Amino acid sequence: MAAAPLFIVFLGPPGAGKGTQAKRLSQRLGLAHIATGDLFRMHLQNHTKLGQLAQEYMKKGELVPDSVTIAMVEERLKEPDTAAGAIFDGFPRTLAQAEALDALLAEHGARVNAAILIQVPEAVLVERLSGRRVCRAQGHVFHVKYNPPKVPGRCDYDGSELYQREDDKPETVRRRIQVYWEQTAPVIEYYRSQGILTEVDGNQDIDQVTEALLTVIAALQQGGVDAS
Ligand code: AP5
Repeated sequence: MAAAPLFIVFLGPPGAGKGTQAKRLSQRLGLAHIATGDLFRMHLQNHTKLGQLAQEYMKKGELVPDSVTIAMVEERLKEPDTAAGAIFDGFPRTLAQAEALDALLAEHGARVNAAILIQVPEAVLVERLSGRRVCRAQGHVFHVKYNPPKVPGRCDYDGSELYQREDDKPETVRRRIQVYWEQTAPVIEYYRSQGILTEVDGNQDIDQVTEALLTVIAALQQGGVDAS
């Protein structure tokens, strides 16, 4: 019998390391990586209407409206790579999104198996985001000090140019952190009240965070993933 799919939500403030870890773990575990921020940036790069709409919100550090975001995730979940499950990175970010995700997964007889909150003190976040560099081709993430590329300005994996995200400017970062506390903190409580929230210390080396996350996920898998 095929194993039940595994759907994991990564929560945490901007700069907590959700994207860095989701990229690593999705490859290692054979799960899809669904990052709404990356999907919006891909639309922007492709000059779609959705990309233009999203940019209006992203450049101010505000959330893109729920209806648009949920519809985009609904489409993404139709892709075959989600059959074994997925790691959600940056979604859900509001209670409405969390409830919509439950409904979408229920249509496939699945559910959110675990939500993992990556905790990092606020003072560390701004430094992480101001030093972040992202690759143009595939969104690989680096940091000028904590995770530098081998060749400055070039992606280690595909050689493409590294750039600084427009919303990583300090004033936009401050607004993004504020929005996180106002609109995403209730999502933490939503999963805590269901008994599926685990917290991981994100203020340690990247490899150590990966190990901590793998330990949580291994325990989840050993406990059996019950998709009922
Ligand atoms: P999004 O792209 O999702 O950004 P975010 O959630 O703000 O998260 P970040 O990508 O900034 O941080 P991260 O936690 O992934 O950290 P990373 O691994 O890169 O969203 C952008 C915008 O899109 C939103 O503001 C909104 O407008 C819109 N949007 C997206 N989703 C939406 C939704 N669901 N609803 C509505 N709107 C939505 O790491 C950061 C840096 O730190 C990197 O340089 C990395 O190398 C470094 N680093 C990582 N881990 C460590 C470590 N352990 N030690 C040292 N450095 C580290």
